[in-house]
Amino acid sequence: MFRKSKSVVGLDVGSTVVKAVELTLDGSEPVVTGFSRVEIPPGGSQAEAVATAFKEGKFRTKQVVTSVSGQDVVVRYVPMMKMTEAEVKQAIRFETDKYLPFDLSEVQLDSQALSRAPAGSGDGDGKAGEQMTVLLAACKIKAIQEKVGLVAQQGLTPIAVDIDLFALSNAWNLCGLPIDESVDGEQHAIALVDIGAARTSINVLVNGETCFSREINIGGGDMTQAVARRLGVEGYEAEAIKRSSENHELEVNSAIAPVLEDLVGELSLSLDYVEHHEGVHVEQVLLSGGGVLAPGAVQYIEQATGRSARTWNPLEGLRVDSGRVDVEELEAWSSTLVVALGLASRVRAA
Ligand SMILES: Nc1ncnc2c1ncn2[C@@H]1O[C@H](COP(=O)(O)OP(=O)(O)OP(=O)(O)O)[C@@H](O)[C@H]1O
Ligand SMILES: [Mg+2]
Repeated sequence: MFRKSKSVVGLDVGSTVVKAVELTLDGSEPVVTGFSRVEIPPGGSQAEAVATAFKEGKFRTKQVVTSVSGQDVVVRYVPMMKMTEAEVKQAIRFETDKYLPFDLSEVQLDSQALSRAPAGSGDGDGKAGEQMTVLLAACKIKAIQEKVGLVAQQGLTPIAVDIDLFALSNAWNLCGLPIDESVDGEQHAIALVDIGAARTSINVLVNGETCFSREINIGGGDMTQAVARRLGVEGYEAEAIKRSSENHELEVNSAIAPVLEDLVGELSLSLDYVEHHEGVHVEQVLLSGGGVLAPGAVQYIEQATGRSARTWNPLEGLRVDSGRVDVEELEAWSSTLVVALGLASRVRAA
């Protein structure tokens, strides 16, 4: 069926789990044609996990999109006068001193004009329509080279390196339902929140376009450590207890509660900031990443942020080739596949 069609594997090398999802275009429809998930054991290597993922995934292609995240990446929303995309690329280089903590020579820069005007640019200061927001992303070249090296070392072909934060919005735009633009003059936004092991990524979207993003260094790993301390056990044991939680439900819940509290404190700060500075209302929080599988996490986030929250299955609405993919396994881990799927969504441009 797909013999002549294009395929791309989205390879999410997380700090604890490698996730790979292959999308293949059937006409213009992206279909999931491969999936694998490999946990990196404590002290284990990412390269080995990637190799295993490709052995087990039986993917059709070696074309891979992977990503960078964390301290090597900086994302800024820069207000600028309206100009063409080419002019932006020129002009932004002179703005970087103001916005980036890196030396220009050590980073790869990318920029994109957003369609929303900067907040407050149209309210009676005579500048309505003259300003725009430019999304500025910078990543240390070394970090990109490391990722490319990791992929190439396995005999794979890296066709792009993305940023985790934007893989979230790309996954949303792959099949996310449009949310009503504005009601009563107020723009409605959704917050995509991916709780990984080492960090939590937040991307707030209006009409499918980012207006704010941020990473918080809190995640499932902190919950595991809290359980380990509470029960006086080793990390790997705490990990297993956290995931099954049957015999230690109360202890697990009370150990992870302060971690969730810290996380939600930071999340709420971010959401309040967006609402205040962007004049939008964050209607819904869509949760993903392995961290949301922690007992009570979704309910707690919903209650503590005062916003409707739910686990996001990014595969909803996507066709899956059940002849090539273990559908049950795919569904079981669906909420942890947002980044991998967002990376694979590049198949549409490949
Ligand atoms: N059933 C479960 N209950 C609680 N936590 C779980 C469960 N299953 C997995 N996790 C947690 O999910 C995390 C892994 O999720 P994920 O694959 O999203 O992280 P990652 O991508 O490796 O991390 P990061 O994005 O921070 O680099 C781990 O901290 C793990 O403990
Ligand atoms: Mg992750």
